[in-house]
Amino acid sequence: NIENYFQFVLFGGTGDLAHNKLLPAFYNMLKKDILPDNFTIIATGRRYDSQEEYLAAIKNSLSSKLKLDKRIWQLLAANIEYFELNFKDEADFLALKEVLKEKSAGEKIHNRLFYLATAPGFFTEIAEKLKKFDLLNLAFEDRDSKLVIEKPFGSDLKSAQKLNKNLNNIFSEENIFRIDHYLGKEMIQNIMVIRLSNPIFRALWKKEYIDNIQIYLNESEGVKNRGKYYDDTGVIKDMIQNHMLQILSLITMEEPDDLSAQEISRKKVEVFKELAEINLDNFDKHIVRGQYTSSQKEDKIIKAYREENNIPDDSMTSTFIALKLFLNNQRWQDVPIYIKSGKRLAKKEAAIAVEFNDDFHQSYLKDKGSESNLLLIKIQPEEGISLQFNTRKPGSINKILPVQMEFCHSCEQLFNSPESYEVLIHDMILGDKTLFTSWEEVYYSWKFIDKFMQKCEEENIKLHQYPALSQGPKAADDLLADDGRQWWDKK
Ligand code: BG6
Repeated sequence: NIENYFQFVLFGGTGDLAHNKLLPAFYNMLKKDILPDNFTIIATGRRYDSQEEYLAAIKNSLSSKLKLDKRIWQLLAANIEYFELNFKDEADFLALKEVLKEKSAGEKIHNRLFYLATAPGFFTEIAEKLKKFDLLNLAFEDRDSKLVIEKPFGSDLKSAQKLNKNLNNIFSEENIFRIDHYLGKEMIQNIMVIRLSNPIFRALWKKEYIDNIQIYLNESEGVKNRGKYYDDTGVIKDMIQNHMLQILSLITMEEPDDLSAQEISRKKVEVFKELAEINLDNFDKHIVRGQYTSSQKEDKIIKAYREENNIPDDSMTSTFIALKLFLNNQRWQDVPIYIKSGKRLAKKEAAIAVEFNDDFHQSYLKDKGSESNLLLIKIQPEEGISLQFNTRKPGSINKILPVQMEFCHSCEQLFNSPESYEVLIHDMILGDKTLFTSWEEVYYSWKFIDKFMQKCEEENIKLHQYPALSQGPKAADDLLADDGRQWWDKK
């Protein structure tokens, strides 16, 4: 219940995620008045020496992102407690325990959430210490503490299993919230509604009517200051194993019986299982890997991936991937699902394109070109839906003119979308797990990715080069051109 006292214990309180996403989300939620009246954010970290220094730093980063309202800021600042903590130091955990107790003294019902915004390598250690020093059972009446972790959940199936086992020794699955922030994005949450509440789409959502599906998450940024993490991870584990497969599962899963978190997860897991069993024959014809090289934009030189900080100059990590996948089930047999993601592409753009087949009446077949009906779900930066259909070209004799019906979600005042972290924090407080990744989803997605990575190695898949801020390797276009198709972000 949002009325109850809420304690948000943030590990990594001085890091990028806290500065750029979590505290801005709290600020916005306060502004919208959707936080419990009574809450404390206990931000732990080592970078700052005092509460004043920490608040000044947070104020600074908030001001760089939004127009700070003094009243809201004061309200937020009054509820933040900075706590200097070293993970290695037992005394620090004991002292933290006292702070948690003191802050919640007199509160009857607690809702306590431990949020690990740290490097994943620390997840187990922190969770174990929370248990060892007895921070998990402080005077609860009806709730257990929750644990929140951010992807990556392990770096392969084995490490994910190990991490999960360690965390399950301390927290039950019900109380572990695994964040995939894409699930908090407005248009990703919209997929279900679009699919299930529109008879025109619901009836056609199958191989008989859909020619292909494309999902692209293009980024224009490079690896920024995350070189070490990125070089160990690469685009397949950074974007495909989680965000992309989550989107793919929402788009292709069978209809759930209801909208409960368990039922939706059950249907998603069916898709992941199928992927895990996929036959990867002719693999090299289904994949294009790439890495960006340097380029010049106006008079600015954009560094190559291998020139970025903490990247070895012979790195073979992929910063781009394009794939063709199939799901061998009744609904999707033989429908290609093309997915693509990369860093340092020409522009930041994410969308899902569902292209319907070209079953035109014979009288119009001769005039057919690229006029498929298309449902484009735009995820970002613009949020919206575009539906392409054919009309008569004015003045012509039965010529087809494709037109687009546009709905710009993000342009409508009414639809002022919350940032994904606001949605996710809100759901954590309420204990609603619909937008979080279940262990089974993680398990089967890793099973697929492990097999996939192994195949990449065995087949020694070529690493194409593409200039920074370009459209990506040409081979990715050929992947579709060979099938007589085109990426919709290129049209
Ligand atoms: C993160 C990845 O999960 O998602 C980053 O680790 C990526 O590499 C980011 O840049 C993209 O998120 P968004 O919300 O900016 O599209």
